[in-house]
Amino acid sequence: MELKGLKVVITGASHGLGRALAEKLSELHTELYLISRSIDKTPLPFKATRIACDIRDPHQVEEVFKKLPEFDILINCVGIPLVKSITDTRPEEIQDTIQTNLTGLIYICKYSITKLENSKSPFIVNIISTSGKKARVNETVYCASKWGLAGFTNSLRLELAPKGIRVIGIYPGGMKSEHFWKGIKTKEEIKDFIPPEEVAEYIIQLLKTAKNSTPAEVVIERKIK
Ligand SMILES: NC(=O)c1ccc[n+]([C@@H]2O[C@H](COP(=O)([O-])OP(=O)(O)OC[C@H]3O[C@@H](n4cnc5c(N)ncnc54)[C@H](OP(=O)(O)O)[C@@H]3O)[C@@H](O)[C@H]2O)c1
Repeated sequence: MELKGLKVVITGASHGLGRALAEKLSELHTELYLISRSIDKTPLPFKATRIACDIRDPHQVEEVFKKLPEFDILINCVGIPLVKSITDTRPEEIQDTIQTNLTGLIYICKYSITKLENSKSPFIVNIISTSGKKARVNETVYCASKWGLAGFTNSLRLELAPKGIRVIGIYPGGMKSEHFWKGIKTKEEIKDFIPPEEVAEYIIQLLKTAKNSTPAEVVIERKIK
């Protein structure tokens, strides 16, 4: 698929994978609409429409999508970590993780559909995690949010197929995003994690290649050194 000229919405675009995708897609001359809470304060060395929005709030999401033009591709990169024993996890942290990683992305997908359905080749790409397939100690709530997002994404794929909207789930292993791991892992601990730019490149190649076929799921494992 030729990406040049397509309108692409990226959520979670101020840091990490979303930011890397935005940079690469801007080089490919797509028209970018970038969403995050702090995107209006984020310096960007390329042209994009920035929309500040907290995706945990369904009213904010509905208003944002009402104002957006019709678009071709939605890439959901919003996500927050939670690495703690369930005993030590506070109810507010549980709510925040589920509302951000799961409910918020459900709102985004829900309000995107009418904006995507007239596109010639519409796509929704949800960034999940290998924690959406594997069970992990001290990641009970994070895994719950990602397994939930995996179930939503797989069901959405079936529900939107008659409208021609293709839905892809991406499951990366640990990525080298300092923003994501702040206060959890040191720079040294994430030095061998996957550069977000490499995951961004896989996603772009996948979108470029998907003509008569669609990879429903892509698991991107970290190379163990
Ligand atoms: N890093 C990893 O090791 C790893 C591994 C596998 C999967 N993942 C998943 O991959 C995705 C991208 O991760 P990343 O490492 O790129 O994370 P990141 O660098 O921390 O970026 C996350 C983005 O989400 C935005 N965001 C967070 N809460 C939000 C909210 N309530 N409303 C709107 N935007 C919000 C953040 O911007 P604001 O703070 O400005 O809102 C930021 O732009 C996430 O879904 C993550 O769970 C990450």
